Amino acid sequence: NNIPGNIIVTGGCGFIGSNFVHYVVDNHPGVHVTVLDKLTYAGNPENIAGLPSDRVELVVGDVCDADLLDRLVPGHDAIVHYAAESHNDNSIADPEPFLRTNVEGTFRLLEATRKYGVRYHHISTDEVYGDLALDDPARFTESTPYHPSSPYSSTKAASDLLVRAWTRTYGLRTTISNCSNNYGPFQHVEKFIPRQITNILTGVRPKLYGEGLNVRDWIHTEDHSSAVWTILTRGRIGETYLIGADGERNNIAVLRMILEMMGRDPDDFDHVNDRPGHDRRYAIDATKLRTELGWTPSHTDFASGLRDTIRWYTENRGWWETAKEATEARYKAQGQ
Ligand code: NAD
Ligand code: DAU
Repeated sequence: NNIPGNIIVTGGCGFIGSNFVHYVVDNHPGVHVTVLDKLTYAGNPENIAGLPSDRVELVVGDVCDADLLDRLVPGHDAIVHYAAESHNDNSIADPEPFLRTNVEGTFRLLEATRKYGVRYHHISTDEVYGDLALDDPARFTESTPYHPSSPYSSTKAASDLLVRAWTRTYGLRTTISNCSNNYGPFQHVEKFIPRQITNILTGVRPKLYGEGLNVRDWIHTEDHSSAVWTILTRGRIGETYLIGADGERNNIAVLRMILEMMGRDPDDFDHVNDRPGHDRRYAIDATKLRTELGWTPSHTDFASGLRDTIRWYTENRGWWETAKEATEARYKAQGQ
């Protein structure tokens, strides 16, 4: 039985981490979750509010705090490490917090993993592989060479390499997953899909970077959660698994879907400054995860997932209204 009874989820008040906490509480009744989260601008305790207090405990703290990890990690079976600075545009404006949280934070967690012998699962991104040309039939696999483009993705790549080195050198029980672009509830309004939905809801024209031909491989965050749980409990130690759900679409197509679903003219948006070094295309081949561990996504209809996401932001204005103003002020300063 590889089901851990007591897990630490770092970054469990962020978008994907909080969705994972909900997934575990809803689907795995015997598991207790300790959320370790610093509550940066991207963390919101509301995301896990209302979950049963005997199942979920929030510890507010920094993954870089070794003393805190010494107090917290003993007594747990596993760490699932989601905490990160996660937004490419922020990393271009100010890379420093990315080095600290993504690289040093992972180092501290690996040291705690080594000291206390717990199982460790590392959450990473397809961006470590760089980008593909728009007309390239290839997709990323577990053996694609690392070639990150942005300060954000280079710190995620660095953290993956630390996990591999610690695993080989110290014999840690680790796995890594690299997932494509997530969408769904609780995603910060700085990210593409929530930004455009909330722009429309506040009477602002959506903002498309450059020509909008860049391709992202969209997966519903609940499918990411089920994949991570599968790897945590049944993945082979020392292995990397790519997570994706065959959801490639270019940005302009996604934006037009949002506009049409919200009753707007599909051309009612602005082209703004492109992101420096903007990756053209990400695409995941998840054959290893599907064949070896039998995982399949359940949200295979992107239009229906997107409609649900639009409904969620429409019904939860209080959740995003404050963050929206600060976010748009930041974008305005960058001409985006
Ligand atoms: P997010 O920005 O929404 O949430 C990050 C969370 O980590 C926040 O709750 C924040 O408070 C917390 N945090 C930040 N620094 C911390 C620190 N030093 N100590 C403790 N907590 C800290 O991010 P997200 O989009 O949910 O991404 C979560 C993870 O998934 C990241 O590792 C990211 O690289 C990875 N990932 C994201 C995507 C995506 O599409 N968003 C895709 C693949 C992988
Ligand atoms: O691929 C996984 C990655 O997906 C994760 O590792 C990152 O944490 C996550 O933020 C995401 O990175 P992207 O840069 O792909 O996501 P973002 O939502 O920032 O942008 C998606 C695409 O939309 C990208 O091509 C840039 C474009 N974009 C973004 C914004 C915010 C716009 O055209 N307009 C916008 O306003």
